[in-house]
Amino acid sequence: MKILHISAECYPIAKVGGLADVVGALPKYQNNQEISSQVVMPFYDNAFTQNNRFITIYTAKLDLGNQSFSFEIKTLNNKKLGFEIFFVAIPELLFTDYVYSTDDTDRFLAFQIAVLDWMLSLKNKPTIVHCHDHHIGLIPFMMTQSVKYKKLQHIPTVLTIHNAQYQGWFSYDKLSLIPKFDMANAGLLDWDQQINPLATAIKCAWRVTTVSPSYMEELKKEANGLESLLQHESAKCVGVLNGIDTDVWNPETDPYIEKNYKISSVQSGKKANKNYLCKRFNLDNKKPLFVFIGRLVGEKGAELLPKTFNLIIQENKSSILLLGSGNREVEKELETLKEKYKGNYNAFIGYDEKLSHIMYAGADFLLMPSRVEPCGLNQMYALRYGSIPVVRNIGGLKDTVIDIDNKGFGIVHQNVSVSDMVYAIKRAEELYINIAKFKKVRNSIMKINHSWDTSAKTYINLYKTLNR
Ligand code: ADP
Ligand code: GLC
Repeated sequence: MKILHISAECYPIAKVGGLADVVGALPKYQNNQEISSQVVMPFYDNAFTQNNRFITIYTAKLDLGNQSFSFEIKTLNNKKLGFEIFFVAIPELLFTDYVYSTDDTDRFLAFQIAVLDWMLSLKNKPTIVHCHDHHIGLIPFMMTQSVKYKKLQHIPTVLTIHNAQYQGWFSYDKLSLIPKFDMANAGLLDWDQQINPLATAIKCAWRVTTVSPSYMEELKKEANGLESLLQHESAKCVGVLNGIDTDVWNPETDPYIEKNYKISSVQSGKKANKNYLCKRFNLDNKKPLFVFIGRLVGEKGAELLPKTFNLIIQENKSSILLLGSGNREVEKELETLKEKYKGNYNAFIGYDEKLSHIMYAGADFLLMPSRVEPCGLNQMYALRYGSIPVVRNIGGLKDTVIDIDNKGFGIVHQNVSVSDMVYAIKRAEELYINIAKFKKVRNSIMKINHSWDTSAKTYINLYKTLNR
């Protein structure tokens, strides 16, 4: 079997969030298990494309409505990633120093058309096409409906929904950009009188997966307008929990962290990383260190953080460090707190991969008060690095973190509210001073196996049901 993953992000090439981590890991683990798994993504203008060498394997022109663009398919001239990777280079549309902007319709539509044009030319076509999120949502439609791609219609497609909040909506003014199809089937593109690529993919893909079982169930009740569609299509939908790349996320070998450690050396290892963070960010290393890493958006409960931090820091029992960016108002509030709570609180507003690793390693607790969390990888990284997760009971967090009072290993709260968060943090502070229990929990979480092995197999079994 040959699987082609199509995605806008892939670690370490271009990462905005967890989508990149998944697409950069799953194919590697699938390649270890009897199948060949490849990735195709846009060729962006970033550090990776500047610092690596590529070979062009295909050159053609694509039509986007009445515009025409030259494009190339490039590949990396080494096998460092553990899977084969292809890039679609369309200089005018995709060679940007960002992955997403405010209007990406033309960019990602051209990307998808280029992928299909290239696939048409391949002798050895993929056995399964695996599409990730709404940016790739029109591929299952075009493969079954566009006259030009009829030769691809027998290839099964899988859609993985990493996040149903964003759906890629665009207006009918752009209908003519989609390669010609039978207008009698235009309804497949429609949801609430707009073209909705995510809804289209849910309708047209052969199978739909979400990144955790709980999120699949939640989407049937709340999916930013698509709940009835997901109920209707539920027979072909399934939740598969994400894994983590245990080669990249391994405290024993992680090159980014200050001191490597394993379970037997966790005490000194975490201490060295915590000391580094406390020194760099002027925090008290005797107090428990709580960290937040992530996008500062409503889904992550980010607007609750300033008020929660205010209440916690006033009691003077904990240190808090935040890494993230997003909503400008929230960023400003979090910046303002820095001056007020010098020595107990600090924040790095921005994106910093290396710092995130040191924070997973140096923290005592990781905060994730998410409103919506399709899977969440942070809590799984935290577990592996011996940082106890303090999370809301939702989506993938519900599927991966069990409360200590329930014979588990984390702190779980039910609501997205300042009072629930404050109470959860206080429970964590109590755990921290119970040194024996704290250490026992910390050791136990490092043994939890969230490697991709199991879920990679689940996906392979799913592909097999389609490849008859
Ligand atoms: P989402 O994809 O919704 O943002 P996930 O938990 O799936 O959430 O994945 C987030 C990924 O992005 C993790 O690898 C996390 O460490 C990383 N990340 C998020 N924000 C930052 C940041 N500001 N700097 C560095 N890494 C970040
Ligand atoms: C999305 C979700 C996140 C998930 C990630 C990878 O960005 O918000 O919860 O972990 O995709 O699947």
